[in-house]
Amino acid sequence: MKIEDLIEQVNQKLDEYMEIVYPQKIFKSMKYTVMLPGKRLRPIMCIESARLFGAKIEDVMPTACAIEMLHAQTLIHDDLPCMDNDDYRRGKLTNHKVFGEAIAVLAGDALLTFAPQVILKYSKNLSSEKLVKIMSEYFQAAGAYGVIAGQVMDIEAEKLHTPYQLYDADDEKYTDEDAELLNFIHLHKTGDLFKLALRSGAIIGGATDDKIATLTEFAEKLGIAFQIADDILDETSTFEKMGKTLGKDKASGKLTYVALYGLEKAKSDLDKLIDECFKILKDNNLESEIFANILNKIKAC
Ligand code: IPE
Ligand code: IPE
Ligand code: MG
Ligand code: MG
Ligand code: MG
Repeated sequence: MKIEDLIEQVNQKLDEYMEIVYPQKIFKSMKYTVMLPGKRLRPIMCIESARLFGAKIEDVMPTACAIEMLHAQTLIHDDLPCMDNDDYRRGKLTNHKVFGEAIAVLAGDALLTFAPQVILKYSKNLSSEKLVKIMSEYFQAAGAYGVIAGQVMDIEAEKLHTPYQLYDADDEKYTDEDAELLNFIHLHKTGDLFKLALRSGAIIGGATDDKIATLTEFAEKLGIAFQIADDILDETSTFEKMGKTLGKDKASGKLTYVALYGLEKAKSDLDKLIDECFKILKDNNLESEIFANILNKIKAC
């Protein structure tokens, strides 16, 4: 199936799962950010991971959509004035700009708990054993061991270096601690949702532990590559292409890949990571047109 058709199916299911009920304000706010036109990378990767092991699309769809809801939660909170303070997301006003801060905080909280309910409510054909494994993956990725750990250190790291200029081509100023911290931030704030998508898809498909371990390694590299690309695009892209205000990482003193290593090394490390991702897939007979398409798009940032 083509990526565009998968996106369409995911969008239809997201709409179906998110019924607006009383109190309408919170459900509308939750649904607002979820339904904005994101790239849907995480649900697509979850579905493709499940398909590689023979799962039917209807059996993975609730989990794939739940992961997109969790992703939307991280975006709503990431954009709040107390976090990255952004006014635009996916080409439209951010959640708190439309619904106010209080509702945006609550919409994020609500999505965090709504998403696993979607998995439990709609995954009719999954065994209890698989459901428990998926829940465990979900809570690991969503909480203080996962995305939150990354977001905490992303915010903490803003205070580390002022003025911003971390990188100096003549004098490699960054320390091993900086490099380790950046890796931790990227692995968790970004890698963990890709890991959740790929691992839970593989669990639904009934993959062996070996294959799940391989996909975990793939997801970690992909997550870091994806965040490097996002950091590069923050400096080089446009609002029209990205649908969010760019150039803000630098202004707020974020510890990004570009801040630490410069644009040139960011680009060459990104290429290297994407090549490693392709190699993992090839060496383990997990080649997929959909994965290749996504990897090539990230590389072409
Ligand atoms: C944005 O993710 C957050 C990051 C991890 C950089 P995406 O770039 O996948 O956002 P959408 O879903 O397409 O809006
Ligand atoms: C996003 O990192 C990670 C999460 C939302 C968890 P960024 O803060 O760089 O993402 P954008 O640039 O706002 O999309
Ligand atoms: Mg952020
Ligand atoms: Mg942000
Ligand atoms: Mg960014």
